[in-house]
Amino acid sequence: MTRALVDGFPADFLWGVATSAYQVEGAVHEDGRGVSIWDTFSHSPGAIRNGDTGDVACDQYHRFEDDVALMTELGVGAYRFSVSWPRIQPEGRGPANRKGLDHYRSLVDALRRHGVTPMLTLFHWDLPQALEDDGGWTNRETAARFADYASLVGEALAKDVGPIITLNEPMVAAWLGYGNGVHAPGRKDESMALAAAHHQLLAHGLAATALRAVGAAEVGIALNLYPFHPASTDPGDVEAAQLADEHMNRFFLDPVFGRGYPSRILEHYAPRVDLGFLADEDLATISQPVDFLGVNYYTVQTVTAFEPSAPRETELPAALGIWSVTPPGVDVTAMGWPVQPEGLTEILKRVHREYAPSRIYVTENGAAFADEPGLDGTFHDHERVAYLQAHVDAVRVALDAGVPLAGYVAWSFMDNFEWAEGYERRFGLVHVDFETQMRTPKDSARWFAAQMRGSRRDAPPLTGSATPD
Ligand code: FCB
Repeated sequence: MTRALVDGFPADFLWGVATSAYQVEGAVHEDGRGVSIWDTFSHSPGAIRNGDTGDVACDQYHRFEDDVALMTELGVGAYRFSVSWPRIQPEGRGPANRKGLDHYRSLVDALRRHGVTPMLTLFHWDLPQALEDDGGWTNRETAARFADYASLVGEALAKDVGPIITLNEPMVAAWLGYGNGVHAPGRKDESMALAAAHHQLLAHGLAATALRAVGAAEVGIALNLYPFHPASTDPGDVEAAQLADEHMNRFFLDPVFGRGYPSRILEHYAPRVDLGFLADEDLATISQPVDFLGVNYYTVQTVTAFEPSAPRETELPAALGIWSVTPPGVDVTAMGWPVQPEGLTEILKRVHREYAPSRIYVTENGAAFADEPGLDGTFHDHERVAYLQAHVDAVRVALDAGVPLAGYVAWSFMDNFEWAEGYERRFGLVHVDFETQMRTPKDSARWFAAQMRGSRRDAPPLTGSATPD
């Protein structure tokens, strides 16, 4: 069956923008919300750049109507947001907090009124602190609690939303949260990180089943995937790229798609870590069929086994003895991430070839740059426009090659709390003045609006929808 094409994309291609709860909502003490690990972590001295926290963030909890109106003005097809687990279950277990559910019901209704498809993520890293106090993701029990939470949210909202993403980037939550301590809950222990990875995957499988039982039609997971390229043809570098790929990509893809865990990584850890938590019977649960795979893509990782003078910071555990470098002549974003759009085509083709998910969404893609307002007060973020354009082109190349792509979601709708980097790193298509909460669409928002309409030429003038207090 051929699909009608608009500007090279299927006519029903979903164009979206994304955020996550802790990064934009604020209102951390409102309507019975419990404490999450990110509240605790962001208030720990030295954890976050400039001592920033998500206490207020973009105040989207109160301003979502305006934000949805601005999305509508842009012509956005989907809004990928996440539900804050501690708003629904303040202690991570027990009955639903009605006010928490009501908030997301209002958000979903506002989106639907404007014809924007709600794309709901259940877990974007803000684990209830009460569960962390019992071991968090290192505790197998947390997977069962997650399935309960998925049922509560699913019962209330599953029939009124589009794609549901169980987990966002379990690799990051495991290795930055429990491995190198850069993210909440700030633990530094490789055996904890491995257990956290496995229990999240188990949680994904249990939640997928729970969601289907309450009528969810489209369930998947969002993984951050990178092509790993060896920095040279030296066999050491080639080997490093393969091991890093097993560690960061295949450790998550393989079990979700029914292949169990990749063997070399288990052999690598087995001498030091008791892998008893990897119960064989869990593999059947983890490999529940998914309706789609979400791919979060930012960059290629070029890796070497020989310690370089200037390695890039990555999620790769230091003990692995593999370093990531920036290839010569490649531009980097404000995060220091190399700009390599061809890597997006490469990873999309690869997951299609090797895992054959029935549908793929690019669930995140975008870039941080140091945006400065022009004399007219608007943001001519030409680097972000160029980044997005090159990556959208890379998606089209993958589509042409037969990859079953169903949508592309830009990270992020608006500048927000960028985890350990606080507010200093801006990924938004819409600028946020964190003093006044004023929203100002950047040139990239105009560019994306035109792209979504199927033409890049006549971007419309846009006005911010929120006014300063
Ligand atoms: C991803 C996260 C998202 C955002 C982007 C820049 O790893 O899922 O919340 O921080 O990176």
